[in-house]
Amino acid sequence: MRTQVGIIGAGPAGLLLSHLLHLRGISSVVLEKRSREYVERRVRAGVLEQGTVDTLVEAGVGERMLREGLPHHGIELRYGGAGHRIPFEKLVPGRAITVYGQQEVVKDLIAARLAAGGDVRFEVEDVELHSLESQPYITFGGERLDCDVVAGCDGFHGVSRPAVPEGVLSVFERDYPFAWLGILARVAPSSEELIYARTERGFALHSMRSPAVSRFYLQVPADARLEDWPDERIWQELRTRLETVPGFGLATGEIMERGITPMRGFVAEPMQYGRLYLAGDAAHIVPPTGAKGLNLAVADVRVLTEALAAYFGSGSTELLDGYSDACLKRVWRAQHFSWWMTTLLHTFEEDDPYARKLQLSYLDYVTSSEAAATTLAENYVGLPFEPGR
Ligand code: APR
Ligand code: PHB
Repeated sequence: MRTQVGIIGAGPAGLLLSHLLHLRGISSVVLEKRSREYVERRVRAGVLEQGTVDTLVEAGVGERMLREGLPHHGIELRYGGAGHRIPFEKLVPGRAITVYGQQEVVKDLIAARLAAGGDVRFEVEDVELHSLESQPYITFGGERLDCDVVAGCDGFHGVSRPAVPEGVLSVFERDYPFAWLGILARVAPSSEELIYARTERGFALHSMRSPAVSRFYLQVPADARLEDWPDERIWQELRTRLETVPGFGLATGEIMERGITPMRGFVAEPMQYGRLYLAGDAAHIVPPTGAKGLNLAVADVRVLTEALAAYFGSGSTELLDGYSDACLKRVWRAQHFSWWMTTLLHTFEEDDPYARKLQLSYLDYVTSSEAAATTLAENYVGLPFEPGR
């Protein structure tokens, strides 16, 4: 079997890449380890930057997102007994975010690929990459796929990054001494906008998915176990951390899904080796506080699509050679923003009273200075994908 681009992983990165390549007349095969049901149900992030929204709309896969997604023009930072709104419409006019579940994006992309006759294979076993320096091929479940280029879109735990010979990639990482316990609940959101709450007991986030479904996160110790968090304890802790301003009451409901996410920043450089190009979580992950993971994956794939279109169109490798450099600037900006939001809002055990005072002082600055709030807003809605856009 032969294709132009062998894509490993049917997450947002792999599926969007396959779709964008199809629009440019470039063939691909997507190989995914899990079942279609699994990837369509996996609850992950939910905040789409303006550039991500624009990308999906331009690619013809944004119809349901425009209909069902929730446009938001601000977020609230809640601490010290008060809420402080960061108004995007004032600070970054014309730019906003859209709240729409990552698995909904995945569903829309799978539907689009299958409708166009795309080759997306689920539940493939034993994916291995070979001959990445010259004429790459992928083996899986007893089959062989020859390709011109391999796109490693298989997430943080995939096989693509480890297929790069030792010593080629430089790895930069930071582990945080806490995790997020996330839940999806059948209850109307108690707030119109996202609430990022900093308390002495730790961070809490109130997000949502629809007028009837809410999403919440709690900062918990890195070794926390779900069995120690029965429903009542989760709601009690969310109430304690969120009901800190006068008149705010948290509505509760059935918990439909729950999970614990470790908090980590990670970048592997360069994001390419031979004819292998890494995109999305395969190359980098961010702590979720800045809501950047999915958006970075989309940005990578846009850059890779342009580079591959140039390569297959004219044979020019210039853009492909510059792929990693072109992506890493944005990747590091997102790393910094995610680290910054995380340190601004979480409690760190090692923090002494002096460090806590510094954190509160910074929060006061961000919520009272227009310049500081603009820095937050500009990064949160996302820097433009291309200069001048
Ligand atoms: N073979 C085939 N597929 C694999 C393999 C493998 N060996 N290992 C992993 N995969 C698949 C996973 O099952 C998953 O469906 O690769 C896919 C990777 O998808 P994501 O983890 O969603 O990564 P990505 O597409 O880069 O999207 C990044 O997703 O992790 C979230 O919050 C993160 O928003 C970010 C976004
Ligand atoms: C989510 O809704 O899942 C979400 C929102 C904001 C974040 C992280 C996750 O920063």
